[in-house]
Amino acid sequence: MKRALLLALAILSLVLLGCPPKEGGTSSAGNEILVGEYASMSGPQATFGQTTHEGITLAVEEINAAGGINGRKIKILLEDDQSKQIEAANVVTKLISQSNVVAVLGEVASSCSIAAGPICQNYKVPMITPSSTNPEVTRKGDYVFRMCFVDSYQGENQANFAANYLHAKKAAVLVDVKSDYSTGLSEFFQGRFKELGGTIVANVSYANGDSDFKAQLTRVKAANPDILYVPGYYTDIGQIAIQARDLGMTQPLVGGDGWESPKLIEIGGKALEGCYYSNHYFADDPAPAVRDFVTKYTVRFKQKPGALAALGYDATKVLANALKRCAKIDGPTLRDEIAKTKDYAGVTGTITLGPDRNPIGKKLVVVEIKNGQLALAATIDPNAPATGATATTGSGK
Ligand code: PHE
Repeated sequence: MKRALLLALAILSLVLLGCPPKEGGTSSAGNEILVGEYASMSGPQATFGQTTHEGITLAVEEINAAGGINGRKIKILLEDDQSKQIEAANVVTKLISQSNVVAVLGEVASSCSIAAGPICQNYKVPMITPSSTNPEVTRKGDYVFRMCFVDSYQGENQANFAANYLHAKKAAVLVDVKSDYSTGLSEFFQGRFKELGGTIVANVSYANGDSDFKAQLTRVKAANPDILYVPGYYTDIGQIAIQARDLGMTQPLVGGDGWESPKLIEIGGKALEGCYYSNHYFADDPAPAVRDFVTKYTVRFKQKPGALAALGYDATKVLANALKRCAKIDGPTLRDEIAKTKDYAGVTGTITLGPDRNPIGKKLVVVEIKNGQLALAATIDPNAPATGATATTGSGK
């Protein structure tokens, strides 16, 4: 009886505290370093997880082929969170407490990163999100890092673009109330757009996964905006564009990085012609680092890499470099080494992490959907003087 009680208590404390991390998160099979990845491999944001995973895979293959981490190979343990916050929290707990991973890569959607960040923080296991842009993500604690710009920057630059390049004076905003990313980004956009003298003529909401947007769009149409600002995810965007055109609306839709998906144009088709979204990189960029990555990725996966693949690749390389510098691989040591990341020449730009664990001065691009393809409309590089038809100079249409 007493023994049974003790056993139950021991199991309970294991569940509550997690297993003490073994040095190096070594796999029982051998000498590999175990890294967790949690991703939306299925569900409404499935391409986010799938393309990020390909970027991570390519990076790991390169790192291991070049000798790994001081002779030890990296092994990625992938968990599908089905695009759900609750699952994100569950699988991250499992990766840390059962598989003993030394670090966690993920998620893409900010709401999922916000759900799992505190878990990594509690266990003192560093987490790097390649692509979650909501400011709250890295505020969950000093073990949480990101590789991408934040939404204050993205939303403000989108407002600059709308006002200066598209000469929009009236904007309607359609927000996904289920997503921290969408609600946050829309606030930053609206704040800046109003500062620039613009007016928000309609502000309507929907919930990720809705399929009928006609009621909201009818209200938007009545307000007669110059543009529709829609900071959502690709599946909804495609539907919103189609239904807006069905209602006879011809205004451009403008959105953020959440549009990025090989499925976007497949879903939205012609309805998306002349629409714009901001992104982290442009696959046809002539920069040597981008060309090199695009070539390697295309050989390996037979398709052009999107921004998520590039960010997943950069996140993995930054993690590997920090691992190589660790005198001893444990959570606190690895955390400190990731925090020291400086001037890393990534595919998505030079990565230097600031004291808030966000990269400093990352570039943003605006792409236009033109003839069913992505075309570069503007580049905003905080480290370089504005050139050409950049968003902020207003030399556009
Ligand atoms: N930034 C989005 C978020 O925080 C995720 C995303 C990034 C989606 C890049 C596509 C491309 O939710």
